[in-house]
Amino acid sequence: METFIVAPLIVGGVVAALGLLISILDGIVNNYGEVVVNINNHTKDLTVKGGAPLLRSLSQEKIFIPSACGGKGSCGACKAVINSDVGPLLPTETPYMSEEEKAGNVRLACQVKVKKDIDIEIPEELFNVREYNAVVESTRVMTYDIVELYLKLDQPVKFKAGMYMQLVIPSYKAKKKGDMSFKGTTMRAYSISSPPSDNQSAEFLVRAMPDGRGIATSYVHHHLEPGMHIQTIGPFGDFYLQENDTTMICIGGGSGMAPFRSILRHMKESNMMDREVWYFFGCRDYPDIYYLAEMRALEKEWPNFHCIFALSDQELHEPEEWDESVFGPRSAIIKGRIDHVVARYMKEEISPDSGFEAYLCGGPMMIKGCTIVLLEQGVSQDNIYYDEF
Ligand code: FES
Repeated sequence: METFIVAPLIVGGVVAALGLLISILDGIVNNYGEVVVNINNHTKDLTVKGGAPLLRSLSQEKIFIPSACGGKGSCGACKAVINSDVGPLLPTETPYMSEEEKAGNVRLACQVKVKKDIDIEIPEELFNVREYNAVVESTRVMTYDIVELYLKLDQPVKFKAGMYMQLVIPSYKAKKKGDMSFKGTTMRAYSISSPPSDNQSAEFLVRAMPDGRGIATSYVHHHLEPGMHIQTIGPFGDFYLQENDTTMICIGGGSGMAPFRSILRHMKESNMMDREVWYFFGCRDYPDIYYLAEMRALEKEWPNFHCIFALSDQELHEPEEWDESVFGPRSAIIKGRIDHVVARYMKEEISPDSGFEAYLCGGPMMIKGCTIVLLEQGVSQDNIYYDEF
C-alpha cells in the first residue's frame, strides 16, 4: 500500500525538479538581450527585451494589435507582416493564413518570438489604439442571454460607428457551485454599440455562451457590477459605416445588434436620414427580440429606415401582452430564416435603383447563407462588409 503512495510522490518530485531545471536553463539560454522592433519602415523603433512573443513586446510598449483570445493562438486576429526571418510558419498559425497571406509574410504576432532585431508592418490606425481604464456605469439585462454593458472611460475614444474594442478579463472565482472560474488574463472583442458622439463611454452587448462556459461572457454576466473597474483596448476593425448614397442592407443576429445600433444612432445624429436602410435582425423566438421599441421609434422618425425582425423557430412563444403603439403590429414580426426573409424582401420590396451596400454581423452560418442571397440579388462582393463572430 505504502509503495503505491510513495512511488507517485517520488515521480512527482522528480518531474517538478526537472521542470524547475528546464525553466532555469530556459531563462539562461533564452537571454536574447535587447532587440529592436522596426515598425513600418522606422515610423517607430522599439527597443524591447528579446525572447517574448511579438504581441506581448508590442503591448508592453503600448502598441496594440487585435487579439480576441489573449495570445493563445486561437483567434487568428493578431496578424502582422514580418519582413525578417523568424522561422517557418508554426502549425498553430497555418489554419488562419490564406495562401496570399503566407506569400506576404503575414504571421500571428502572439506566436512569433522576438529573438533578434525584426522589421514589421502593421496598419497605421493601430498607432491610435489606446488602453482605457473604465468604470462600469450600468449593466442591463436585455434578454435571457444578452446583457448591455455601459462603461465610462478615463479618456475620450475616437472610433467609427461599427468598430470594436477588447475587454480585458481578469482572474475571477465562481460565485456558486457549477459556475465558471478563471485564472490569468485574457481578452475578448466586442462591437461598440454606442455612437461615436458619446466619446467618453463605450457600450457593448454581451451574449452568454449557450453552455454558460465562456470566460468573458461569464465574467460580464455574473461578476461585473456598476462601480467596478475593467480595462478596455481599442478601437479596432474595418467593419464600419461607409458614407455614400447606396441603399444599405444590414443583417445581424444575437449580439450582432451592437454595431448596427452604433451605426444607426450615428446616422440619425449626423443627419444621414436621406439614406435608405433595411435592417434585418434574425433570431429564433420572441424572447430573443430586443430593442424592438427603439427600432420602431426610429422607423417613425426616419421614413427611409425599415427594421425587420425574423424568427426562425417552427414553434414560437408569442407574448400575451403586445402594445402595438410601442412594438408595432405583431404581423410585422416575420416568421422564417433570416436568409429567406432577406431574399424575399430584396425580390419584392427593396428597390435596386440606388445600388446596394451590405453589412453583416453574426455567426458563420448566417453570414454564409445571407452572402449567397446578396450575391444572387446582384450585390457586389466588394460592397459586402463582414463582422463575423
Ligand atoms: S491568435 Fe489570438 S491573439 Fe494571436
